[in-house]
Amino acid sequence: MTATIARISADEILDSRGNPTIEVTVELTDGTTARAAVPSGASTGENEAVELRDGDPHRYGGKGVRTAIASVTDAIAPALVGMAPFDQAAIDATMIEIDDTANKSRLGANAILGVSMAVARAAASQAGIPLWQWLGGCGARRLPMPMLNVINGGAHADSGLDVQEFMIVPVGAPSFREAMRFAAETYHALREVLKRHGYTVSLGDEGGFAPRLPNNEAALEHIVEAIEDAGHRPGRDVAIALDPAANWMWRDGAYRVSGSEPLDSGGLIAMYERWASNYPIVSIEDGLAEQDWAGFTALTKRLGGSIQIVGDDIYVTNPKFIRSGIMQKASNAVLIKLNQIGTVTETISAVELCREAGWSYIVSHRSGETEDSFIADFAVAMGGGQIKTGAPSRGERTAKYNRLLAIDRALGRAALFANPFSGRK
Ligand code: PGA
Ligand code: ZN
Repeated sequence: MTATIARISADEILDSRGNPTIEVTVELTDGTTARAAVPSGASTGENEAVELRDGDPHRYGGKGVRTAIASVTDAIAPALVGMAPFDQAAIDATMIEIDDTANKSRLGANAILGVSMAVARAAASQAGIPLWQWLGGCGARRLPMPMLNVINGGAHADSGLDVQEFMIVPVGAPSFREAMRFAAETYHALREVLKRHGYTVSLGDEGGFAPRLPNNEAALEHIVEAIEDAGHRPGRDVAIALDPAANWMWRDGAYRVSGSEPLDSGGLIAMYERWASNYPIVSIEDGLAEQDWAGFTALTKRLGGSIQIVGDDIYVTNPKFIRSGIMQKASNAVLIKLNQIGTVTETISAVELCREAGWSYIVSHRSGETEDSFIADFAVAMGGGQIKTGAPSRGERTAKYNRLLAIDRALGRAALFANPFSGRK
């Protein structure tokens, strides 16, 4: 007989920024135990599912998650005990029903997602197969092209840079393993380039450097220099992706970019166009603020033929917003974050929508992470061929890359790896 859920518990642990987060443990009747820990963003979208925090100023500055733990033990566990771990969709639907809010604010998306991910792990464990195989089926064998954040700005560092993430993308690598080598070599070369130019090489939240550069172009220049110093060809071997996270730039009715007059959408798009013609940029995420749907459509029209235009804060992994985006041609790709929507099932629905529209999708970490490597398995399972999970440094980032290296090794000759941008430029 199939084992069923016997017990669900939760604990308050720390994320990579030193803030509390929730770790859920699911135990099955046959003794199988599975755990999952939930990440947390800093530059969050307005419509993200709600992360329940205690608000008690005497504990962790109000960020404790004891109420979310109570959601797990008092509300969720009694409803799920006795269910089979293989019934992921039914389990997620049950939690959504108990929560009964549009944004998971009653139970907390952190509580719900922790259970949802731990259940998926318990099911894989029961089936005796790895998580990526359980979630992706026998066809799952594509390793994702990594996007590695090597210079941190915006809400993730005090570097003063407007653009939140300057990423490198090892597009010319023949395998995931080689992609990680290209990336790590470029990362180390960048450290030397920055030092040579007299900048500090302290790290931001996602493991990228956080130098106080004079402007965004300087970051792009130094990355190109680093790619060359590492012995790779800019654009051919290693390209650049940006996440301006433009919510951060939007203040008092205009986009504020240092070294420039206040800009409207058109002005900002023209700036991206200039950058794209001067540097090997393959992807721009959240180029406009989340309420600027018309700006997104204009950017996609202007640059979407040659560049991947990604929506993150604008869609918050929510099928409802992604559907609107598809109707309005607001981008040609979606950033996929499990904790923006709050269950594994709904995240898979978001991915399915992208596939139907012929859009790309990129599985993503959050700036506040744990050692949990769920998204590495999830990226292989979804087969979209792209992941962004920070620099090739800091344990909570390398946990994901190292898990992908292990999956690559397990797949052996069956592993697929391809440049997702080769058809575009
Ligand atoms: P966040 O940043 O996790 O702080 O929201 C990541 C992103 O904007 O992609
Ligand atoms: Zn983003």
